[in-house]
Amino acid sequence: MSKQNQKPDEPKLRPHAYDGITEYDQRLPNWWLYTLYGTIIFSVIYWFFYHQSNASMSDVEKLEVAMMEIQATKLANSIDVSNDDLFYEMAENATFVSSGESIYNQYCMVCHGPNLEGITGLGLNLVDAEWVHGGEPSKIYQTIYDGVLDKGMQAWGPIIGQKSITEVTAFILSKKE
Ligand code: HEC
Repeated sequence: MSKQNQKPDEPKLRPHAYDGITEYDQRLPNWWLYTLYGTIIFSVIYWFFYHQSNASMSDVEKLEVAMMEIQATKLANSIDVSNDDLFYEMAENATFVSSGESIYNQYCMVCHGPNLEGITGLGLNLVDAEWVHGGEPSKIYQTIYDGVLDKGMQAWGPIIGQKSITEVTAFILSKKE
């Protein structure tokens, strides 16, 4: 079919022909074009949201948080309050430490201060180099568990239990310089 005898409402043909094969020159349908534009806009928004802004966690960050939580559960299931190394490991785990932090804020801050620096006449500094009742993690745990009754700290063992005391111990260790 040549250009001359083409009707106006028929699709246009490209001028070339190879072995008698000709090619239409059609406008792509709107639904196809809008789908294409839509995917381009989506890709920009996606790229910005997931890779450039801090509005959402990336997959790597989500994975890290998930691993941390799994690790925290494992640690919580293997609590051994005589094992100092385990306490240090717990102090490295953000999930564990943040549980300890909320316990601290709820029960301990009133006497030991918002930054664990102690409050004169109420509670001791927990981040300096001095420990009155022993600085090994297992000792710290035991002091919290049993309290220091004659000095005004009650025994926390029966009140908040082993797991919470382990967490708060990990939190204290994580704050030490
Ligand atoms: C009513 C105030 C009070 C509260 C609440 C309190 N403590 Fe104490 N804490 C003290 C006092 C008093 C001592 C002992 C001071 C001394 O021996 O001279 C102490 C001692 C300690 C020690 C030993 C410090 C050392 O140098 O050996 C640790 C650890 C400790 N507290 C942690 C905690 C934790 C964790 C909590 C929360 C679960 C808590 N305390 C809540 C008052 C308090």
